[in-house]
Amino acid sequence: KVGLRVVDRGFLNTAVIQSYITFIDGDRGILRYRGYPIEQLAEQSNFLETSYLLIWGELPSKSQYDRFHDEVMNHSTTHVDIEHVFKSFRYDAHPMSILTSVFAALGSYYPEANPSLQGQNLFTKKDLASVQNMDKQIYRLIGKAPTLAAMAYRVRQGRHFITPPPGLSYTGAFLYQMDCLGQAEYKPNPVLERALDILFILHADHEMNASTTTVLQAGSSLTDPYSAIATGCASLYGPLHGGANEAVIRMLISIGSPDNVPAFLEQVKRREKLLSGFGHRVYKTTDPRSRIIRRTADEVFKVTGKDPLIETAMRLHDMALKDEYFVKRNLYPNVDFCGLIYKAMGFPLDFFPVLFAVPRVVGWIAHWRQMMLSPDGVKIWRPRQIYIGPEERAYEPIGQRQ
Ligand code: SDX
Repeated sequence: KVGLRVVDRGFLNTAVIQSYITFIDGDRGILRYRGYPIEQLAEQSNFLETSYLLIWGELPSKSQYDRFHDEVMNHSTTHVDIEHVFKSFRYDAHPMSILTSVFAALGSYYPEANPSLQGQNLFTKKDLASVQNMDKQIYRLIGKAPTLAAMAYRVRQGRHFITPPPGLSYTGAFLYQMDCLGQAEYKPNPVLERALDILFILHADHEMNASTTTVLQAGSSLTDPYSAIATGCASLYGPLHGGANEAVIRMLISIGSPDNVPAFLEQVKRREKLLSGFGHRVYKTTDPRSRIIRRTADEVFKVTGKDPLIETAMRLHDMALKDEYFVKRNLYPNVDFCGLIYKAMGFPLDFFPVLFAVPRVVGWIAHWRQMMLSPDGVKIWRPRQIYIGPEERAYEPIGQRQ
């Protein structure tokens, strides 16, 4: 403690902004986007409509939705040159490191978004030109996110990039490019497209999580939105955050069978292992998204068949929720058990964090836009520290050192 300055480890008690976008009550397990409960949006809305709500603050009229949908889908293709970035990676590169790099590269394709080329605050003015410029970057980022993700999948398989036929839904066009269902000819599957759309709604935003904070930290210097989004990918990639959905499945595979769950939980209590998919900085009860995931999983498994890991996952849930060690620490299932659905749909394991990043681009860009247009202007995020290093001391030439 120095004067009024106190280190708040992990920002447990630090609010960095005021926001109109997402509300979470961690004690009661409440999540609302612009005031609408996540349960109602998952049940009645779709991902693009929810994206519009998160970004512009209101549910769109039919004409506003149609225009937004067309803008996003028209921006879903990429410049052919960006393919070289994908092909510059090792054959076995993690798709999240590819996605992080490609978003950063994308910024250089749109000079109107790049402040360093224009040397001015491109988006913080309130004039029509800067708002239209901002909207175009938003359409591009949301439209291209699934395409870039699919390209990261296909490049690793040594396969050509493909452009989906017109008329497919947002998730349908993505699944077409992913063809992870192993179908020679993609046949739209409404159950799986809707399930992925619901999962995208659940992952769209979550107020000041680590990756959104990272995007705003970067964005506060007025860098271009593509570079800011790339920093969000880098943060989300970590196994304590978005990388947990991949870590959950690797954990279940390593446990092997339901009978091994008790021994695994003992290792967790001895802090030899982490219980991925459990715990949350804000929720001190079950994550409301995990209940919707359970229902969505039942629908998907009717189409894909149940994954053998389900039994181990259920035993883990049942035992951990009754165990004093976890209950005392408020460790409940979080959003990251959705990996069981992704696995059943045929996505590769290391692709799961990418399935988190694609929808989270909307939350990142909604918070970035809110920052750029804040009435009192953009203030660079530059926290202080408390110095505990050596006092002043004189330089010693190398010949005089021990
Ligand atoms: C997401 O922030 C968001 O909103 C994130 C997210 C979003 O939508 O953006 O919701 C998405 O990232 C969900 C979380 C995914 N991560 C995981 O599933 C990884 C496993 N979870 C943990 O790493 C942990 O719970 C965190 C990172 C999620 C939260 O960590 P905190 O808030 O810093 O809590 P902590 O580490 O201080 O833990 C408190 C106690 C500790 O025990 P003690 O030292 O007090 O004895 O609980 C223990 C921790 O050791 N603990 C766990 C645990 N999580 C916390 N012990 C075992 N397994 C765990 N998973």
